[in-house]
Amino acid sequence: MSLAVKAVGIRKSFGSYEVLKGLDLEVAYGEVLCILGPSGSGKSTFLRCINHLETPNSGYVWVDGAIMGYELNRDALQELPIKRLRAQQSQLGMVFQHFNLFAHRTVLGNVIEGPMVVRGLRRAEAEARAMDLLEQVGMAGKALSYPSQLSGGQKQRVAIARSLAMEPRVMLFDEPTSALDPELVGEVLEVMRNLARGGTTMIVVTHEIGFAREVADRVVVMIDGEIRETGAPGQVLSNPGDPRVRTFLSRVLA
Ligand SMILES: Nc1ncnc2c1ncn2[C@@H]1O[C@H](COP(=O)(O)OP(=O)(O)OP(=O)(O)O)[C@@H](O)[C@H]1O
Ligand SMILES: [Mg+2]
Repeated sequence: MSLAVKAVGIRKSFGSYEVLKGLDLEVAYGEVLCILGPSGSGKSTFLRCINHLETPNSGYVWVDGAIMGYELNRDALQELPIKRLRAQQSQLGMVFQHFNLFAHRTVLGNVIEGPMVVRGLRRAEAEARAMDLLEQVGMAGKALSYPSQLSGGQKQRVAIARSLAMEPRVMLFDEPTSALDPELVGEVLEVMRNLARGGTTMIVVTHEIGFAREVADRVVVMIDGEIRETGAPGQVLSNPGDPRVRTFLSRVLA
Protein backbone atom coordinates (compact mmCIF):
# COMPACT_ATOMS: atom_id res chain seq x y z
CA MET A 1 0.00 0.00 0.00
CA SER A 2 1.44 3.37 -0.87
CA LEU A 3 1.27 5.87 1.96
CA ALA A 4 0.52 9.54 1.57
CA VAL A 5 1.99 10.39 4.97
CA LYS A 6 4.09 8.42 7.36
CA ALA A 7 5.39 9.90 10.61
CA VAL A 8 7.73 7.97 12.87
CA GLY A 9 8.81 8.86 16.39
CA ILE A 10 7.95 12.56 16.23
CA ARG A 11 9.15 14.43 19.30
CA LYS A 12 8.98 18.17 19.77
CA SER A 13 9.92 20.33 22.74
CA PHE A 14 9.61 24.04 23.34
CA GLY A 15 12.31 24.81 25.89
CA SER A 16 12.14 22.09 28.49
CA TYR A 17 8.46 21.37 27.74
CA GLU A 18 7.95 18.29 25.62
CA VAL A 19 4.81 18.87 23.56
CA LEU A 20 5.01 15.78 21.32
CA LYS A 21 6.23 12.61 22.93
CA GLY A 22 7.04 10.28 20.07
CA LEU A 23 4.12 10.11 17.63
CA ASP A 24 3.70 7.55 14.86
CA LEU A 25 1.09 7.93 12.14
CA GLU A 26 0.35 6.47 8.76
CA VAL A 27 -2.20 7.88 6.32
CA ALA A 28 -3.03 6.09 3.09
CA TYR A 29 -3.98 7.83 -0.14
CA GLY A 30 -7.65 8.68 -0.16
CA GLU A 31 -7.92 8.32 3.58
CA VAL A 32 -9.60 10.88 5.84
CA LEU A 33 -8.05 10.99 9.29
CA CYS A 34 -9.51 13.14 12.05
CA ILE A 35 -7.37 14.14 15.03
CA LEU A 36 -9.25 14.94 18.22
CA GLY A 37 -7.95 15.94 21.61
CA PRO A 38 -8.09 18.53 24.37
CA SER A 39 -6.71 22.02 23.93
CA GLY A 40 -2.95 22.04 24.41
CA SER A 41 -2.52 18.34 23.62
CA GLY A 42 -0.24 19.16 20.68
CA LYS A 43 -2.54 18.73 17.68
CA SER A 44 -1.48 21.91 15.87
CA THR A 45 2.16 21.28 16.67
CA PHE A 46 1.84 17.80 15.19
CA LEU A 47 0.31 19.16 11.95
CA ARG A 48 3.10 21.74 11.79
CA CYS A 49 5.68 19.00 12.21
CA ILE A 50 4.05 17.00 9.42
CA ASN A 51 4.50 19.84 6.94
CA HIS A 52 7.82 20.87 8.48
CA LEU A 53 6.70 24.32 9.56
CA GLU A 54 8.21 23.05 12.81
CA THR A 55 11.26 20.82 12.71
CA PRO A 56 10.79 17.87 15.06
CA ASN A 57 13.56 17.37 17.62
CA SER A 58 13.58 13.75 16.55
CA GLY A 59 11.61 11.55 14.21
CA TYR A 60 10.87 11.84 10.52
CA VAL A 61 7.95 12.43 8.22
CA TRP A 62 7.59 10.98 4.77
CA VAL A 63 5.17 12.47 2.27
CA ASP A 64 4.55 10.38 -0.82
CA GLY A 65 7.63 8.37 0.08
CA ALA A 66 10.02 11.33 0.33
CA ILE A 67 11.45 12.33 3.68
CA MET A 68 10.41 15.87 4.63
CA GLY A 69 13.16 18.42 5.10
CA TYR A 70 16.08 16.18 4.23
CA GLU A 71 17.85 14.47 1.40
CA LEU A 72 20.09 11.48 1.44
CA ASN A 73 23.64 12.36 0.56
CA ARG A 74 26.15 9.49 0.63
CA ASP A 75 24.14 7.61 3.24
CA ALA A 76 23.79 10.70 5.46
CA LEU A 77 20.72 12.86 5.87
CA GLN A 78 21.28 16.48 4.97
CA GLU A 79 18.88 19.34 5.50
CA LEU A 80 17.19 20.44 2.29
CA PRO A 81 17.88 23.94 1.02
CA ILE A 82 14.92 26.22 1.71
CA LYS A 83 13.72 26.30 -1.90
CA ARG A 84 13.40 22.55 -2.09
CA LEU A 85 11.80 22.44 1.32
CA ARG A 86 9.18 24.91 0.06
CA ALA A 87 8.56 22.69 -2.95
CA GLN A 88 8.06 19.72 -0.64
CA GLN A 89 5.74 21.72 1.57
CA SER A 90 3.62 22.68 -1.41
CA GLN A 91 2.56 19.02 -1.57
CA LEU A 92 0.66 19.64 1.63
CA GLY A 93 -2.25 22.05 1.51
CA MET A 94 -2.94 23.72 4.82
CA VAL A 95 -6.13 25.37 6.01
CA PHE A 96 -5.97 27.08 9.38
CA GLN A 97 -8.53 28.25 11.89
CA HIS A 98 -8.06 31.83 10.73
CA PHE A 99 -8.43 32.29 6.99
CA ASN A 100 -5.26 34.03 5.95
CA LEU A 101 -6.42 35.42 2.63
CA PHE A 102 -4.64 38.35 1.00
CA ALA A 103 -6.89 41.29 1.90
CA HIS A 104 -5.92 43.42 -1.08
CA ARG A 105 -6.67 40.72 -3.68
CA THR A 106 -9.98 39.51 -4.99
CA VAL A 107 -11.16 35.99 -4.35
CA LEU A 108 -9.95 35.00 -7.81
CA GLY A 109 -6.65 36.83 -7.22
CA ASN A 110 -6.14 34.85 -4.03
CA VAL A 111 -6.67 31.52 -5.76
CA ILE A 112 -4.44 32.18 -8.80
CA GLU A 113 -1.54 33.64 -6.78
CA GLY A 114 0.18 30.35 -5.83
CA PRO A 115 -0.22 28.60 -9.19
CA MET A 116 1.11 31.66 -11.06
CA VAL A 117 3.95 32.68 -8.73
CA VAL A 118 5.10 29.31 -7.45
CA ARG A 119 4.19 26.99 -10.28
CA GLY A 120 4.53 29.38 -13.18
CA LEU A 121 1.08 28.86 -14.67
CA ARG A 122 -0.12 31.43 -17.15
CA ARG A 123 -2.91 33.70 -16.02
CA ALA A 124 -5.56 32.29 -18.37
CA GLU A 125 -4.96 28.73 -17.26
CA ALA A 126 -4.65 29.67 -13.58
CA GLU A 127 -7.95 31.58 -13.81
CA ALA A 128 -9.76 28.75 -15.56
CA ARG A 129 -8.67 26.28 -12.93
CA ALA A 130 -9.40 28.72 -10.11
CA MET A 131 -12.96 29.19 -11.39
CA ASP A 132 -13.47 25.40 -11.39
CA LEU A 133 -12.28 25.25 -7.80
CA LEU A 134 -14.42 28.21 -6.76
CA GLU A 135 -17.36 26.43 -8.38
CA GLN A 136 -16.51 23.36 -6.34
CA VAL A 137 -16.63 25.31 -3.05
CA GLY A 138 -19.70 27.30 -4.10
CA MET A 139 -17.86 30.61 -4.42
CA ALA A 140 -17.70 31.21 -8.17
CA GLY A 141 -20.27 33.98 -7.86
CA LYS A 142 -17.94 35.92 -5.56
CA ALA A 143 -14.80 35.60 -7.68
CA LEU A 144 -14.39 39.36 -7.98
CA SER A 145 -15.24 40.21 -4.38
CA TYR A 146 -12.62 41.12 -1.80
CA PRO A 147 -12.18 39.09 1.41
CA SER A 148 -13.60 41.93 3.53
CA GLN A 149 -16.88 41.53 1.62
CA LEU A 150 -17.24 37.87 2.60
CA SER A 151 -18.59 36.05 5.63
CA GLY A 152 -16.25 33.87 7.69
CA GLY A 153 -17.60 30.69 6.13
CA GLN A 154 -17.17 32.11 2.64
CA LYS A 155 -13.59 33.16 3.42
CA GLN A 156 -12.82 29.71 4.69
CA ARG A 157 -14.25 28.14 1.53
CA VAL A 158 -12.02 30.43 -0.55
CA ALA A 159 -9.05 29.43 1.64
CA ILE A 160 -9.81 25.79 0.83
CA ALA A 161 -9.99 26.56 -2.91
CA ARG A 162 -6.71 28.45 -2.66
CA SER A 163 -5.00 25.46 -1.04
CA LEU A 164 -6.47 23.06 -3.60
CA ALA A 165 -5.18 25.24 -6.43
CA MET A 166 -1.65 24.05 -5.63
CA GLU A 167 -2.80 20.46 -6.26
CA PRO A 168 -1.46 19.14 -2.98
CA ARG A 169 -1.23 15.43 -2.36
CA VAL A 170 -2.62 15.84 1.12
CA MET A 171 -4.84 18.48 2.72
CA LEU A 172 -4.19 19.40 6.34
CA PHE A 173 -6.94 21.21 8.22
CA ASP A 174 -6.41 22.76 11.64
CA GLU A 175 -9.80 23.41 13.21
CA PRO A 176 -11.11 25.12 10.07
CA THR A 177 -14.52 25.81 11.57
CA SER A 178 -13.76 26.73 15.15
CA ALA A 179 -13.51 30.48 14.54
CA LEU A 180 -16.83 30.56 12.68
CA ASP A 181 -20.24 31.61 13.87
CA PRO A 182 -22.24 28.42 14.43
CA GLU A 183 -24.55 29.03 11.46
CA LEU A 184 -21.55 29.14 9.09
CA VAL A 185 -19.92 25.90 10.22
CA GLY A 186 -22.14 23.67 8.11
CA GLU A 187 -21.23 25.15 4.73
CA VAL A 188 -17.50 24.63 5.36
CA LEU A 189 -17.99 21.09 6.62
CA GLU A 190 -20.10 20.40 3.52
CA VAL A 191 -17.19 21.45 1.27
CA MET A 192 -14.87 19.20 3.28
CA ARG A 193 -17.34 16.33 3.09
CA ASN A 194 -17.40 16.68 -0.70
CA LEU A 195 -13.62 16.71 -0.87
CA ALA A 196 -13.52 13.53 1.20
CA ARG A 197 -16.08 11.89 -1.10
CA GLY A 198 -13.96 12.88 -4.08
CA GLY A 199 -11.02 10.94 -2.67
CA THR A 200 -8.87 13.78 -1.30
CA THR A 201 -6.42 12.60 1.34
CA MET A 202 -7.14 14.64 4.45
CA ILE A 203 -5.81 15.06 7.97
CA VAL A 204 -8.32 17.10 9.93
CA VAL A 205 -7.85 18.46 13.43
CA THR A 206 -11.37 19.16 14.57
CA HIS A 207 -13.72 19.51 17.50
CA GLU A 208 -16.63 18.54 15.24
CA ILE A 209 -17.31 15.06 16.55
CA GLY A 210 -20.28 14.62 14.23
CA PHE A 211 -18.09 15.33 11.22
CA ALA A 212 -15.44 12.90 12.46
CA ARG A 213 -18.04 10.20 13.02
CA GLU A 214 -19.57 10.64 9.59
CA VAL A 215 -16.59 11.43 7.36
CA ALA A 216 -13.42 10.03 8.93
CA ASP A 217 -12.07 6.66 7.91
CA ARG A 218 -10.01 6.72 11.07
CA VAL A 219 -9.91 8.82 14.22
CA VAL A 220 -6.91 9.52 16.41
CA VAL A 221 -7.20 10.97 19.91
CA MET A 222 -4.20 12.88 21.22
CA ILE A 223 -3.75 13.64 24.90
CA ASP A 224 -0.68 15.32 26.37
CA GLY A 225 1.44 14.84 23.27
CA GLU A 226 0.64 11.18 22.80
CA ILE A 227 -1.72 9.25 20.57
CA ARG A 228 -3.87 7.46 23.10
CA GLU A 229 -6.43 5.92 20.79
CA THR A 230 -6.70 5.19 17.09
CA GLY A 231 -9.31 3.33 15.12
CA ALA A 232 -12.55 3.50 13.21
CA PRO A 233 -14.75 6.39 14.33
CA GLY A 234 -17.52 4.12 15.58
CA GLN A 235 -15.13 2.25 17.80
CA VAL A 236 -13.08 5.19 19.09
CA LEU A 237 -16.00 7.53 19.67
CA SER A 238 -18.43 5.03 21.15
CA ASN A 239 -16.17 2.64 22.97
CA PRO A 240 -12.69 4.01 23.69
CA GLY A 241 -10.46 1.76 25.74
CA ASP A 242 -8.29 4.49 27.28
CA PRO A 243 -9.87 6.04 30.38
CA ARG A 244 -8.45 9.52 29.63
CA VAL A 245 -9.92 9.35 26.14
CA ARG A 246 -13.26 8.34 27.66
CA THR A 247 -13.14 11.36 29.97
CA PHE A 248 -12.24 13.72 27.11
CA LEU A 249 -14.98 12.38 24.85
CA SER A 250 -17.63 12.41 27.54
CA ARG A 251 -16.84 16.12 27.98
CA VAL A 252 -17.03 17.04 24.30
CA LEU A 253 -20.06 14.86 23.64
CA ALA A 254 -21.91 16.26 26.66
N1 LIG B 1 6.04 28.06 19.42
C1 LIG B 1 5.77 27.63 20.66
N2 LIG B 1 6.55 27.97 21.71
C2 LIG B 1 6.28 27.52 22.95
N3 LIG B 1 5.25 26.70 23.26
C3 LIG B 1 4.44 26.32 22.27
C4 LIG B 1 4.66 26.77 20.91
N4 LIG B 1 3.68 26.21 20.13
C5 LIG B 1 2.91 25.49 20.97
N5 LIG B 1 3.36 25.55 22.24
C6 LIG B 1 2.77 24.85 23.40
O1 LIG B 1 2.62 23.50 23.06
C7 LIG B 1 1.42 22.97 23.61
C8 LIG B 1 0.61 22.34 22.51
O2 LIG B 1 0.12 23.37 21.65
P1 LIG B 1 -0.75 23.09 20.36
O3 LIG B 1 -1.07 24.41 19.79
O4 LIG B 1 -0.06 22.11 19.51
O5 LIG B 1 -2.04 22.42 21.03
P2 LIG B 1 -3.43 22.06 20.36
O6 LIG B 1 -3.72 20.63 20.71
O7 LIG B 1 -3.42 22.43 18.93
O8 LIG B 1 -4.45 22.99 21.18
P3 LIG B 1 -5.80 23.75 20.67
O9 LIG B 1 -6.89 22.69 20.63
O10 LIG B 1 -6.05 24.75 21.74
O11 LIG B 1 -5.51 24.35 19.33
C9 LIG B 1 0.74 24.11 24.34
O12 LIG B 1 1.03 24.01 25.71
C10 LIG B 1 1.38 25.34 23.74
O13 LIG B 1 1.39 26.38 24.65
MG1 LIG C 1 -4.44 23.86 17.81
